[in-house]
Amino acid sequence: MKRRIGILTGGGDCPGLNAAIRGVARAAYESMEDVEIIGIKDGLRGLIDGEYRKMKPEEFSGILTLGGTILGVNRQSFKMVSRIGEDKIDRVKLMMEHYEEMGLDCLVMLGGNGTHKTAGLLSEKGLNILGLPKTIDNDLYGTDVTFGFHSALNIATDVIDRIHTTAASHGRVMVVEIMGNKAGWLALYAGMAGGADVILIPEIPYDPQKVLKAVKRREENGKGFTIISMAEGAYTKEMAKLKKKDREAQMSADPLTVGQRLAIFIQKETGLESRAVVPGHIVRGGSPSAYDRILSTRFGIHAAELIRKGDYGYSIALKGTEITHNPLSEIAGKSKLVPEDDAVVKAARAIGISFAD
Ligand code: F6P
Repeated sequence: MKRRIGILTGGGDCPGLNAAIRGVARAAYESMEDVEIIGIKDGLRGLIDGEYRKMKPEEFSGILTLGGTILGVNRQSFKMVSRIGEDKIDRVKLMMEHYEEMGLDCLVMLGGNGTHKTAGLLSEKGLNILGLPKTIDNDLYGTDVTFGFHSALNIATDVIDRIHTTAASHGRVMVVEIMGNKAGWLALYAGMAGGADVILIPEIPYDPQKVLKAVKRREENGKGFTIISMAEGAYTKEMAKLKKKDREAQMSADPLTVGQRLAIFIQKETGLESRAVVPGHIVRGGSPSAYDRILSTRFGIHAAELIRKGDYGYSIALKGTEITHNPLSEIAGKSKLVPEDDAVVKAARAIGISFAD
């Protein structure tokens, strides 16, 4: 059976992309006789510009533990690729033409929400598409976990652990601002795993006075320091009253990050020395965790199995312990945010962690 498989990594990078690429390739070579893999450079940019090359089987060796992506990435939002702008370039048409030019049987797109929206669109247009759910944000609808999340969580937890010792020594309030613009999974889980005292996430707008109350309570109990795990997209109850567009504009116009602003506020109001730490892209770098290596490989194997059957138009997913798939038409464009009654939110509240709400 001959299969020509295109593969690209969309959106931002994360640990586990190479493990997933390797999983698709190795399982495809194992299960089908005549497989050709075409690597598309820099995600959707390469598909739009027609930059691709046939890959050799040996290129998929030695990459399991490698962070980032051997194919490269370049952010191309759904809006950018799907709309014809002032430059009059029809990028959807270009992507479809290059798919034909490559002579693909299918295209495997590794990506987060934006990439999945484009995957859904290309699938609607009749291309054979499979999506693999990657993002450190863990906010893709239809899968329990995305690959990249656990690796980033380990790093974010390590950051909080390290902050703990210096916070305790100096008797400071430390705000650790963790990636997660719309979804707070990473700040929530790292906060829980790292023993934070306050967790602030976009899904639960916070009251700054309640943050102060939590800090003061720690002081009164003789703790001497406070750790706050804050998502980069967290905002106050006051800001929650604004329209989403206005709120986002206000937040991105601020020269300070949310964590820096909060640390300054706490120091001013309490007189306690406060600092903000922004690990930023560090949580997205480096080698995938053992969990992500296995998850990415299993996602890749499942994609190869669908390719062998010629069954397309899905995004691979983890449900419980099973790897399965969802129709792209059902999941593309939907996010998975932290629900109010999330089990980890409840557990955090049960041990006295404040969400300042
Ligand atoms: O979607 C993953 C993510 O790391 C977000 O958590 C973060 O807001 C964003 O990407 C950062 O994007 P960039 O790498 O383009 O700065």
